[in-house]
Order: sequence, then C-alpha cells, then structure tokens
Amino acid sequence: MGCGWAGARHALAFRAAAAQLLWAVDVDPARASKIGAAHATSDLVAALADPSLDAVSVCLPHALHAEAAIAAADAGKHVLVEKPMATTVEEADRMIAAANRARVLLMVAETVRFDPLVERTLQLVREGAIGTPALVQISRQAYLRTSFLTQRRWFLNSRTAAGGIMLSGGVHDFDILRMLLGEPETVYARRVRQRFVEMQGDDTSVAVVTFPNDVVATLIESFLMKTAVTATGEEEHLVRVDGELGSLLVDGRRSTIRLFSEHPGYQSSSSAPPDQEIHVPSADPFEREARHFLNCIQAGLEPITSGRLQRRNLELVLAAYASMQSGVPVWV
Ligand SMILES: NC(=O)c1ccc[n+]([C@@H]2O[C@H](COP(=O)([O-])OP(=O)(O)OC[C@H]3O[C@@H](n4cnc5c(N)ncnc54)[C@H](O)[C@@H]3O)[C@@H](O)[C@H]2O)c1
Repeated sequence: MGCGWAGARHALAFRAAAAQLLWAVDVDPARASKIGAAHATSDLVAALADPSLDAVSVCLPHALHAEAAIAAADAGKHVLVEKPMATTVEEADRMIAAANRARVLLMVAETVRFDPLVERTLQLVREGAIGTPALVQISRQAYLRTSFLTQRRWFLNSRTAAGGIMLSGGVHDFDILRMLLGEPETVYARRVRQRFVEMQGDDTSVAVVTFPNDVVATLIESFLMKTAVTATGEEEHLVRVDGELGSLLVDGRRSTIRLFSEHPGYQSSSSAPPDQEIHVPSADPFEREARHFLNCIQAGLEPITSGRLQRRNLELVLAAYASMQSGVPVWV
C-alpha cells in the first residue's frame, strides 16, 4: 500500500525474499502498475478482500498509516508498517490492539535494526570496546532537493506528514539511542530557525536526551544542511559514542567505524595505532527486514521491531515536539 519510494524498495525486498506480490495499491494507478504485482488497484478494500493475501506493507504518507494498518489487521492480514508507525500514541495503541485482536503480526519497518553497521556498532559497545558509554552524538543531515519534494507534496503539509525531520529521521535515531543507552529520562528539543519555508514541519531541529547516571545524547536532524556531501543528494549520518576507554565514530555513508580504544583486547599489535578503521560490508536493510517479517510470520514469533516494541520511539519523538512547543524538557 503506497507505491512510492519506500513501496518500491519493499517490493524489491519481498521479491528477493521469494514472496509473491499479489496487489499493488496506490491512488496513482501509474505508480501501482510499476511495482510488478499481479494486480494493481487504487481500491484498498478490494485488495484486502483477497483471501490468498497473507500480509501487507504500508508505505503510505504518515497520517494514513494507522487507518490502513488497522483495516489490514481487521481483514486478518499481517502488517509491516513504515516508520513512524503512526502520528499519535493513541493511533499506535489502536494498531497494536487491532493486530492482537486479529492474531496477526504488526511489525514496524525500522530499517536501522537491520543495518549491519548499526549491528557492528552495538556489538563493539556491548563487548566493552569503549567502556560504558557516557555521551552519544548523532547527526543526520540531508539537503532536500526540489525533485524529492515535487514527488512528495504530502511531506510539506503538517496534516499528512505530521511533523518534519525530527519525526521522519529522528524516529530512527531515537531507536539507535535506545539500543546503545537504554531508556531515556528526559527530552529537550528546539526547532532551528526555518529556512525551508514551503515545509510546515521542522526542517532542522536539535534534541538533548538524558539517561540515568548523567549519560547524555544529542541529536541534530536536518533536511536543509548544505554541505559538499548533501549537495550531491546523499545523506550524512554520523554517530559518535564516547566511553571511558575510547570512542567510536560511525559513518553511515562510508559504512565505516573509526574506533579508538584503550581496551587491551582491541589493539591488534603493540606497534599498531589504537585508532582503527573498521569497514562493515553493507547488506540491504530492506531485504533483511522483509525476510525477518516473513520468518516471524512462518514461525509465529514477535518481530524485533514489533509495534509493541517500537511504540516507544514514536512516544519519544512526540515528546521532542512537545518540548519544542513548551520550551522545557519533557520527562519521558
Ligand atoms: N525506512 C526508511 O529508510 C524510509 C525511507 C523513506 C521513506 N520511508 C517511509 O515510507 C513511507 C512513505 O514514504 P515515501 O518516501 O515512499 O513517500 P512517497 O510519496 O514516495 O510514496 C507514498 C505513496 O503513497 C501514495 N498514496 C498517497 N495517498 C494514498 C492513498 N490515500 N491511498 C493509496 N496510496 C496513496 C502516493 O501516491 C505515493 O505513491 C513514509 O512513512 C516514510 O517515512 C522510510
């Protein structure tokens, strides 16, 4: 459901995972017919009435996620829904309840959980390569080009997009923070002066997130950061984690981790500099995500990104927006 950028990625991923694509649903018939499914339609109800359909991917504008996911669950179909899972916690709860009622899976397409670079970073932190983390800095920077927006006008509107970059990108980064540091205590966020005035949501915003024991994280999220990298259309995503034994700098674009470690287990030889660059071979997170969804359906297991587990990321992003409104930190 929704055959734009994400819908096309899901279609490729499910095809690679040997699923049969039965229906492509989009208000734009041309987009639906490009996906390569057996049937293309703009009628969601017709697709959901097909008894041979087991599962759906919801790749629609944010404000339509809840309604589509609930309709699919009510029709007895397993649901993979793009991030953010919904636009309010109340919607997320109704989606979770609908899936429970129908005994179908509700999985959120949170790609960072299927990214080998994030997995390797977590592994290094859990092994103690940098000791206990004290500070995490994440920045996600892009420069939205006109072509991106002319194809996604819904993104400019706060009713259909339900937010800006802190929702769209921040929801991934709150997930990374929770993987690295556990559950936050407070979120304080500020919207940076808007430069991209056509968009109602935040084009750039910053959050300071606190955790128990004075552990602190910062998030810088921007759709309007003009750099030599972003000007080419690429996104720059950097994660830096500091602990008492060293630091990690994770560069998403280059798929590398620069590790400085005083831990004796991480020095390859006595003469080697303690600063190492680890290259992590990439693997398509969308395909890994699709395979996980199908495996969980077959095995009757809860996905690692179930709606129940991912609801918290939405709650944290909404706390960031509440803080932007009130000007004070929010206990979460
Ligand atoms: N995981 C990721 O890395 C990632 C990346 C990009 C987008 N996304 C998410 O994917 C979702 C879709 O984003 P996108 O970039 O693919 O947007 P998009 O605009 O490219 O695609 C959305 C599609 O939905 C269709 N649509 C709109 N209203 C509809 C309706 N009422 N019924 C049926 N179809 C309708 C549009 O015609 C369009 O084809 C969003 O939730 C977005 O945040 C996730």
